[in-house]
Amino acid sequence: MSIHIRKAAKNDISIILDLLYELGRPKPDNNSDDDVFQRQIKEYFSDDNKEIRLAETGTAVVGMVSMVFLSRLNQKYPELYIPELVVTKSFQNQGIGKKLINTCIVIAKEKKCHRIRLESGNQRKESHKFYKKLGFEQTALSFSKNLN
Ligand SMILES: CC(C)(COP(=O)(O)OP(=O)(O)OC[C@H]1O[C@@H](n2cnc3c(N)ncnc32)[C@H](O)[C@@H]1OP(=O)(O)O)[C@@H](O)C(=O)NCCC(=O)NCCS
Repeated sequence: MSIHIRKAAKNDISIILDLLYELGRPKPDNNSDDDVFQRQIKEYFSDDNKEIRLAETGTAVVGMVSMVFLSRLNQKYPELYIPELVVTKSFQNQGIGKKLINTCIVIAKEKKCHRIRLESGNQRKESHKFYKKLGFEQTALSFSKNLN
């Protein structure tokens, strides 16, 4: 199967949202939330520090990765933070996630990023194995405080 990785564009917003829901991200409670989600995705198309890449078969989008380039106070070059990575269930374990991460690595090197960082929930045991397989190391604990 041939998989093509390409930049996302405005007419991909609904498939991006579907992939995010598959990842377990919250669905909109109402139309106004939906508008906010759509606007936030659009920001990725106009902000030089944000990017979304899609994995596409000849006929369908089957995966996505989002990227945010963050400047750190004590680093000359940015950090690439990956907020979201997902491959749709029926296309998992076919090398597509690896292709998306390899695309991130190429982009990060072009931008001279000093590292790539991401968080993965405690429950995502399989994705932890995936990241380790791709050479990622577990270097920190993540703490969050829910304010909702
Ligand atoms: C995690 C995820 C993105 C991986 O993508 P994928 O397309 O299924 O993974 P790939 O087929 O590209 O796997 C790449 C390598 O990792 C290995 N790998 C993948 N999952 C693995 C697992 N559970 N255990 C051990 N190795 C694993 C593969 O064997 C492959 O090894 P190879 O390079 O030697 O062939 C995908 O499974 C997914 O979307 N999962 C649900 C959402 C999720 O958890 N996202 C991550 C949020 S942090």
